[in-house]
Amino acid sequence: FEGKEKTKRAPVVSVMGHVDHGKTSLLDYIRRTKVASGESGGITQHIGAYHVQTDHGMVSFLDTPGHAAFTAMRARGAQCTDIVILVVAADDGVMPQTKEAVDHARSAGVPIVVAINKMDKEGADPDRIKTELAGMEVIPEDWGGDVQFIPVSAHTGDGIDDLLEALLLQAEILELEASPDAPAKGVVVESSLERGRGSVATVLVQNGTLRQGEMVVAGGFFGKVRAMTDEAGKQVKEAGPSIPVEILGLNGTPNAGDEFFAVADEKKAKELAEFRQSR
Ligand code: GTP
Ligand code: NA
Ligand code: MG
Repeated sequence: FEGKEKTKRAPVVSVMGHVDHGKTSLLDYIRRTKVASGESGGITQHIGAYHVQTDHGMVSFLDTPGHAAFTAMRARGAQCTDIVILVVAADDGVMPQTKEAVDHARSAGVPIVVAINKMDKEGADPDRIKTELAGMEVIPEDWGGDVQFIPVSAHTGDGIDDLLEALLLQAEILELEASPDAPAKGVVVESSLERGRGSVATVLVQNGTLRQGEMVVAGGFFGKVRAMTDEAGKQVKEAGPSIPVEILGLNGTPNAGDEFFAVADEKKAKELAEFRQSR
């Protein structure tokens, strides 16, 4: 994308960790308290990705289906996550899926921020978490390493602002950039067929700006973007880098982790989609 000016973009964050350590609770707390769209009171719909505005800047999160996208992308050596939040329950410690998540993040070259969750519980032992992770070479900053460990509670909300701040600090180090003026390109987070709406795909724009009315290819499918909505179900006309949106108008349901990109015309879109389907 030579000649297209690059600007700072928000970090895209995936939440990983052992079963029941509080990944969903943490995301729910952040969504409930931080989603800026102001549509609260409406129907809470299932969404695979959303972005929040904090005092320190914007952050985009990939929810559990994002985990699937992360895995699918990683298998192809591609990447849709800038930072992994590794959730570890303070009363339980490092478990098999904690280790798996560390390996995932490492082989993808994605930095980790550790959220020591359930700090409100009796028996919470953050030092034990630090010791166990340090044993896997995930070394806390206060022990001379380069990983931020943030004690939080997804129930009380304690420490969540510190966690968001830690994410944005990590993002600063990564110097994340994109070209809003380029043709849109990104990744499918999830998709499904919905009665009355047809194919609904949540996509994360990684570069460029996606606009309503544009022709896109997503995995083996294509179509003109008939409508776009944000995580609150509000209609939007465009979505820039690091912004997740739901799009209507594809002629099928691409897989999590599939690439999507805008193309100039329908003929080209059809060709590219068919080529992709044939592989
Ligand atoms: P899976 O998606 O099944 O792997 O679980 P998860 O990591 O998303 O955990 P989830 O958010 O479903 O939480 C598991 C249980 O822990 C639920 O009963 C939560 O209410 C509880 N829980 C999560 N966070 C906290 C916390 O900060 N404090 C306390 N006391 N309980 C928590
Ligand atoms: Na659970
Ligand atoms: Mg969950």
